[in-house]
Amino acid sequence: MTQDQLKQAVAQAAIDFILPKLDDKSIIGVGTGSTANFFIDLLAQHKMAFDGAVASSEATAQRLKGHGIPVYDLNSVSDLEFYVDGADESNERLELIKGGGAALTREKIVAAVAKTFICIADESKLVPILGAFPLPVEVIPMARSHVARQLVKLGGDPVYREGVLTDNGNIILDVYNLQIDSPAKLEEQINNIVGVVTNGLFAQRPANLLLLGTKDGVKSIK
Ligand code: 5RP
Repeated sequence: MTQDQLKQAVAQAAIDFILPKLDDKSIIGVGTGSTANFFIDLLAQHKMAFDGAVASSEATAQRLKGHGIPVYDLNSVSDLEFYVDGADESNERLELIKGGGAALTREKIVAAVAKTFICIADESKLVPILGAFPLPVEVIPMARSHVARQLVKLGGDPVYREGVLTDNGNIILDVYNLQIDSPAKLEEQINNIVGVVTNGLFAQRPANLLLLGTKDGVKSIK
C-alpha cells in the first residue's frame, strides 16, 4: 500500500468511529494536513449526519466550505465531541509532535476544547521517542532571535522556516536535534519562553485514540 492509501484508510476508520455517535447538532473539530484532507473529503459524503465543523486552519476551513460543510467559529461552539487530526510523530503514549503544516496553535486550541482527540496517521509516524521530526515552535516575529537563543540553551538547533507565516501572522522555528524524553515537561519549558505562542508538542493534552494505518490494516491504539 502507498502512504496515501494508508492515510485514506485511517481517514475512513475515523469516519467509521465517529459516524454512529453523531447527530444533527454535532460539530466536529477538523485538523490540517494531507491526512486530515482525506478525512474532510470522506466526511463530505455524510453531510446530513452532523451540523458542521470547526477548522484548525484557513486551509481546512476553505476545504470544508468547498464541500458545503458549515464552518463555525470556535467561540460560538460550546460542545465539541471529536477532534480529528494528523500528526508528524506519535509515541505509544499518544504524545505527539504536530505543526509540520504550521497550524499547531489553532490545532492545539481545538484539541483542548474537544472531548475526544482522534489522531489519524500512517505507520511511519509512530516512533519510540519523539524528536527525529524537528519540533515546530510558533513565535511572535520580533521575538525570533531571543526565542532561538533560549531554544539553543534547551539543547536544540532552531531553524527559521523561511517564507512561512502562520494563520496568526507569526513565524515558525523548527527545532532539530532534540531528544525528547519528557515531552510534557519540555512542552511547558518551551511555552514559558517569552515570545513563544505555542510549540508542537501535544503531551499535556495527548490524543485519546490513535488510528494507525499499517500494511496489515488500521490499528487502534488508546
Ligand atoms: C499541521 C499538522 C499535521 O497534522 C501534520 O503536519 C501531519 O500532516 P500530514 O497529514 O500531511 O502528514 O500538524 O500543522
